[in-house]
Amino acid sequence: MRSKIPSFIMIPSFLFIIIFIFYVFFISFNYKSYFFHPITISFFIIVTILLYILESINNLIFIEKIKFFSKEEKIKILKENEGNYFYRFYKFIFHDHKDINNGVKKIDHGFDGIIELDNKLPLWWIHLFYLTIIFSAIYFFSYLLIDFSNPYKEYDITYKNQLKEIEIFEKKTPQVTIENAFFKKNLINNGKILFNENCATCHKLDGSGNIGPNLTDNYWININEKDLFKNIFSIIWNGSDNNPTMRAFGKSGEIKGNDIEKISSYVYFINKIYKKPSIYKAPQGKKIIEWSKI
Ligand code: HEC
Repeated sequence: MRSKIPSFIMIPSFLFIIIFIFYVFFISFNYKSYFFHPITISFFIIVTILLYILESINNLIFIEKIKFFSKEEKIKILKENEGNYFYRFYKFIFHDHKDINNGVKKIDHGFDGIIELDNKLPLWWIHLFYLTIIFSAIYFFSYLLIDFSNPYKEYDITYKNQLKEIEIFEKKTPQVTIENAFFKKNLINNGKILFNENCATCHKLDGSGNIGPNLTDNYWININEKDLFKNIFSIIWNGSDNNPTMRAFGKSGEIKGNDIEKISSYVYFINKIYKKPSIYKAPQGKKIIEWSKI
């Protein structure tokens, strides 16, 4: 039987689906620019022509077939194809289905005496149903095979983009240096976390000393600056000249200036403000009572 959907709807819909699949492929393999490539466009044109040829063949076959039909059947088909497609579509959606279901098949259940009418489904419903099948097929395969609509890959891409943005942001925002770094109370907590990650193995989290010296007393081996905070910053940045075990975290790029400011704030805090640990490593270096007098 000839399809009831006319070619001016059938062909563009097919074409749309094909173009959509292509588009999804190109997007997911990052070949967006190839979508408008002459070869791609010629391919679409050829597909359109082929679709038209197919449709004409279909129509021809139908016209040939109709010759063998009886008069009644011909009248019935003519009636079914009355008016244009939209008119028929409208009729199916909004009109009483009585005339369509005239002479409808009746299914006799037999056992309970109920007779069921096997009504035809409205066209809009059938179209919607086919549409969901097509949609699910596209979605299913694109989910399985390519990046399109795959949440894990989408997450991956977003994650990478965010990392890139952070990198750009960090490059653009200048890190503090020893000149403009100062003790800040609000940095202590973050500094403690960083100290725990980078320094606590050698100095203990409370700074009482382990392989490295006690950082909470007034004895200092390395004295590079006149200010306690700057001295701490300087040692973390440059490392110790006497002992390479205390390496140059800042110079080597291992820890950035902003983070050194945080760590230095924590070390300053445990040395000057926080209560002293009860167990600590024996003093090393020179005792300094007032830093400004050095
Ligand atoms: C691998 C062990 C090790 C690590 C990790 C380490 N240090 Fe040290 N640190 C030392 C040693 C050893 C010294 C003594 C250096 C010397 O004798 O000059 C030292 C000295 C210091 C001093 C100077 C103390 C003084 O009396 O002159 C400070 C301040 C310091 N470290 C802070 C830190 C901070 C902050 C970190 C983390 C970013 C850190 N250290 C990580 C081993 C380490």
